[in-house]
Amino acid sequence: MNGKGTEGHRLNRLFTREQIASIVQGLADQISRDYDGRELVLVCILKGAFVFLSDLIRHLRISAQVDFVRLASYGSGMKTCGKIEITKDVEIPLEKKDVLIIEDIIDSGRTLRFLKDRLALLKPRSIKVCALLDKKSRREVEMKADYLGTDVDDIFIVGYGIDFNEYYRHLPEIYYVTPIDHSKE
Ligand code: IMP
Ligand code: MG
Repeated sequence: MNGKGTEGHRLNRLFTREQIASIVQGLADQISRDYDGRELVLVCILKGAFVFLSDLIRHLRISAQVDFVRLASYGSGMKTCGKIEITKDVEIPLEKKDVLIIEDIIDSGRTLRFLKDRLALLKPRSIKVCALLDKKSRREVEMKADYLGTDVDDIFIVGYGIDFNEYYRHLPEIYYVTPIDHSKE
Protein backbone atom coordinates (compact mmCIF):
# COMPACT_ATOMS: atom_id res chain seq x y z
CA MET A 1 0.00 0.00 0.00
CA ASN A 2 1.35 3.43 -0.93
CA GLY A 3 0.70 6.86 0.49
CA LYS A 4 1.73 9.18 3.24
CA GLY A 5 2.53 7.53 6.56
CA THR A 6 2.83 4.10 5.05
CA GLU A 7 6.55 3.91 4.22
CA GLY A 8 9.09 1.61 5.90
CA HIS A 9 6.80 -1.18 6.94
CA ARG A 10 4.75 -3.97 5.45
CA LEU A 11 1.20 -5.08 6.19
CA ASN A 12 0.61 -8.80 6.58
CA ARG A 13 -2.96 -10.03 6.53
CA LEU A 14 -4.08 -11.75 9.73
CA PHE A 15 -7.89 -11.97 9.41
CA THR A 16 -10.06 -11.75 6.29
CA ARG A 17 -13.42 -9.99 6.12
CA GLU A 18 -15.14 -13.38 6.38
CA GLN A 19 -13.16 -14.38 9.49
CA ILE A 20 -13.93 -11.04 11.15
CA ALA A 21 -17.63 -11.29 10.26
CA SER A 22 -17.85 -14.74 11.79
CA ILE A 23 -16.09 -13.62 15.00
CA VAL A 24 -18.39 -10.59 15.33
CA GLN A 25 -21.51 -12.65 14.62
CA GLY A 26 -20.48 -15.13 17.33
CA LEU A 27 -20.00 -12.35 19.88
CA ALA A 28 -23.32 -10.72 18.96
CA ASP A 29 -25.12 -14.05 19.41
CA GLN A 30 -23.66 -14.54 22.90
CA ILE A 31 -24.44 -10.94 23.91
CA SER A 32 -28.00 -11.16 22.52
CA ARG A 33 -28.61 -14.31 24.57
CA ASP A 34 -27.03 -13.05 27.80
CA TYR A 35 -28.60 -9.56 27.80
CA ASP A 36 -32.11 -10.46 26.66
CA GLY A 37 -34.58 -8.42 28.77
CA ARG A 38 -31.83 -6.27 30.31
CA GLU A 39 -31.03 -2.56 29.96
CA LEU A 40 -27.87 -2.83 27.89
CA VAL A 41 -25.60 0.15 27.25
CA LEU A 42 -22.64 -0.41 24.94
CA VAL A 43 -19.78 1.93 25.84
CA CYS A 44 -17.38 2.10 22.90
CA ILE A 45 -13.78 3.23 23.46
CA LEU A 46 -12.81 5.73 20.75
CA LYS A 47 -11.29 5.68 18.39
CA GLY A 48 -10.13 2.12 17.72
CA ALA A 49 -13.37 0.25 18.52
CA PHE A 50 -15.74 2.27 16.31
CA VAL A 51 -15.76 -0.13 13.35
CA PHE A 52 -16.11 -3.17 15.62
CA LEU A 53 -19.01 -1.50 17.47
CA SER A 54 -20.78 -0.57 14.25
CA ASP A 55 -20.68 -4.16 12.97
CA LEU A 56 -21.53 -5.65 16.36
CA ILE A 57 -24.69 -3.58 16.94
CA ARG A 58 -26.06 -4.55 13.55
CA HIS A 59 -25.82 -8.23 14.51
CA LEU A 60 -27.54 -7.85 17.89
CA ARG A 61 -31.06 -9.26 18.24
CA ILE A 62 -31.82 -7.13 21.33
CA SER A 63 -32.10 -3.38 21.81
CA ALA A 64 -29.14 -1.51 23.26
CA GLN A 65 -28.17 2.07 23.94
CA VAL A 66 -24.78 3.26 22.66
CA ASP A 67 -22.34 5.70 24.17
CA PHE A 68 -18.70 6.62 23.60
CA VAL A 69 -15.66 7.47 25.69
CA ARG A 70 -12.25 8.66 24.60
CA LEU A 71 -9.17 8.16 26.71
CA ALA A 72 -5.75 9.72 26.51
CA SER A 73 -2.73 7.99 27.91
CA TYR A 74 0.63 9.52 28.45
CA GLY A 75 3.45 7.17 27.70
CA SER A 76 6.00 6.54 25.05
CA GLY A 77 4.73 5.77 21.56
CA MET A 78 2.78 2.54 21.34
CA LYS A 79 2.75 1.68 25.03
CA THR A 80 0.03 2.57 27.52
CA CYS A 81 1.68 3.57 30.76
CA GLY A 82 1.63 6.38 33.24
CA LYS A 83 -1.44 8.49 33.61
CA ILE A 84 -4.67 7.74 31.76
CA GLU A 85 -7.26 10.49 31.41
CA ILE A 86 -10.79 10.60 30.07
CA THR A 87 -11.14 13.24 27.35
CA LYS A 88 -14.74 12.42 26.36
CA ASP A 89 -17.01 10.98 29.01
CA VAL A 90 -20.23 8.95 28.80
CA GLU A 91 -23.41 10.98 28.40
CA ILE A 92 -26.11 8.38 29.09
CA PRO A 93 -26.83 7.85 32.82
CA LEU A 94 -25.46 4.40 33.68
CA GLU A 95 -27.04 3.87 37.10
CA LYS A 96 -28.79 0.46 37.24
CA LYS A 97 -27.89 -0.21 33.57
CA ASP A 98 -26.03 -3.23 32.25
CA VAL A 99 -22.84 -1.76 30.82
CA LEU A 100 -20.76 -3.56 28.22
CA ILE A 101 -17.47 -1.86 27.31
CA ILE A 102 -16.49 -2.36 23.67
CA GLU A 103 -12.73 -2.35 23.02
CA ASP A 104 -10.59 -3.16 19.99
CA ILE A 105 -7.49 -4.72 21.61
CA ILE A 106 -6.41 -5.50 25.15
CA ASP A 107 -2.68 -5.07 25.58
CA SER A 108 -1.28 -4.14 29.02
CA GLY A 109 -4.86 -4.02 30.35
CA ARG A 110 -4.34 -0.54 31.82
CA THR A 111 -6.89 1.27 29.64
CA LEU A 112 -9.71 -1.13 30.50
CA ARG A 113 -8.74 -1.34 34.18
CA PHE A 114 -8.96 2.46 34.40
CA LEU A 115 -12.26 2.71 32.52
CA LYS A 116 -13.93 -0.21 34.30
CA ASP A 117 -13.05 1.22 37.73
CA ARG A 118 -14.22 4.68 36.67
CA LEU A 119 -17.55 3.55 35.19
CA ALA A 120 -18.19 1.43 38.29
CA LEU A 121 -18.46 4.71 40.26
CA LEU A 122 -21.61 5.50 38.21
CA LYS A 123 -23.34 2.51 39.88
CA PRO A 124 -24.35 0.38 36.89
CA ARG A 125 -26.16 -2.89 37.64
CA SER A 126 -23.34 -4.78 35.91
CA ILE A 127 -20.21 -3.92 33.98
CA LYS A 128 -18.49 -6.26 31.55
CA VAL A 129 -15.96 -6.11 28.74
CA CYS A 130 -16.19 -7.20 25.11
CA ALA A 131 -12.90 -7.07 23.19
CA LEU A 132 -12.25 -8.07 19.61
CA LEU A 133 -8.58 -8.99 20.15
CA ASP A 134 -6.43 -9.84 23.16
CA LYS A 135 -2.63 -9.84 23.47
CA LYS A 136 -2.59 -11.83 26.71
CA SER A 137 1.20 -12.16 26.79
CA ARG A 138 1.48 -8.36 27.23
CA ARG A 139 -0.71 -8.04 30.30
CA GLU A 140 0.62 -5.84 33.13
CA VAL A 141 -2.52 -5.50 35.23
CA GLU A 142 -5.28 -8.03 35.80
CA MET A 143 -7.96 -7.72 33.09
CA LYS A 144 -10.07 -10.38 31.42
CA ALA A 145 -12.61 -9.87 28.65
CA ASP A 146 -16.02 -11.37 29.39
CA TYR A 147 -16.59 -11.61 25.62
CA LEU A 148 -13.50 -12.09 23.46
CA GLY A 149 -13.20 -12.35 19.68
CA THR A 150 -9.80 -14.02 19.56
CA ASP A 151 -6.31 -14.00 21.04
CA VAL A 152 -3.38 -12.61 19.06
CA ASP A 153 0.38 -12.85 19.58
CA ASP A 154 2.52 -9.89 20.55
CA ILE A 155 2.29 -8.21 17.12
CA PHE A 156 1.23 -4.72 16.05
CA ILE A 157 -2.27 -4.78 14.57
CA VAL A 158 -3.92 -2.37 12.11
CA GLY A 159 -7.14 -2.21 10.10
CA TYR A 160 -10.82 -2.55 10.95
CA GLY A 161 -10.74 0.70 12.93
CA ILE A 162 -7.32 0.07 14.49
CA ASP A 163 -4.53 2.49 13.61
CA PHE A 164 -0.81 3.00 13.29
CA ASN A 165 -0.21 6.76 13.77
CA GLU A 166 -3.86 7.34 12.75
CA TYR A 167 -3.45 5.50 9.43
CA TYR A 168 -5.08 2.25 8.26
CA ARG A 169 -8.34 2.52 10.22
CA HIS A 170 -10.27 2.26 6.94
CA LEU A 171 -8.98 -1.19 5.99
CA PRO A 172 -11.79 -3.80 6.08
CA GLU A 173 -9.39 -6.62 7.03
CA ILE A 174 -7.00 -6.99 9.97
CA TYR A 175 -3.24 -6.88 9.38
CA TYR A 176 -0.05 -6.92 11.44
CA VAL A 177 2.83 -4.58 10.75
CA THR A 178 6.44 -5.64 10.18
CA PRO A 179 9.41 -3.41 9.32
CA ILE A 180 10.86 -3.61 5.81
CA ASP A 181 14.51 -4.57 6.06
CA HIS A 182 16.05 -2.75 3.08
CA SER A 183 19.46 -4.40 3.67
CA LYS A 184 17.97 -7.71 2.44
CA GLU A 185 16.60 -6.27 -0.82
P1 IMP B 1 -3.61 -1.21 26.99
O1 IMP B 1 -4.07 -0.10 27.87
O2 IMP B 1 -2.12 -1.39 27.06
O3 IMP B 1 -4.36 -2.50 27.20
O4 IMP B 1 -3.81 -0.72 25.51
C1 IMP B 1 -4.97 -0.81 24.84
C2 IMP B 1 -5.00 0.23 23.73
O5 IMP B 1 -3.74 0.33 23.05
C3 IMP B 1 -6.00 -0.21 22.70
O6 IMP B 1 -7.23 0.43 22.93
C4 IMP B 1 -5.39 0.26 21.41
O7 IMP B 1 -5.83 1.58 21.16
C5 IMP B 1 -3.93 0.34 21.66
N1 IMP B 1 -3.25 -0.83 21.06
C6 IMP B 1 -2.80 -1.93 21.70
N2 IMP B 1 -2.26 -2.80 20.84
C7 IMP B 1 -2.39 -2.23 19.61
C8 IMP B 1 -1.99 -2.66 18.29
O8 IMP B 1 -1.46 -3.74 18.07
N3 IMP B 1 -2.30 -1.80 17.28
C9 IMP B 1 -2.91 -0.60 17.49
N4 IMP B 1 -3.28 -0.17 18.70
C10 IMP B 1 -3.01 -0.98 19.75
MG1 MG C 1 -7.93 1.98 21.78
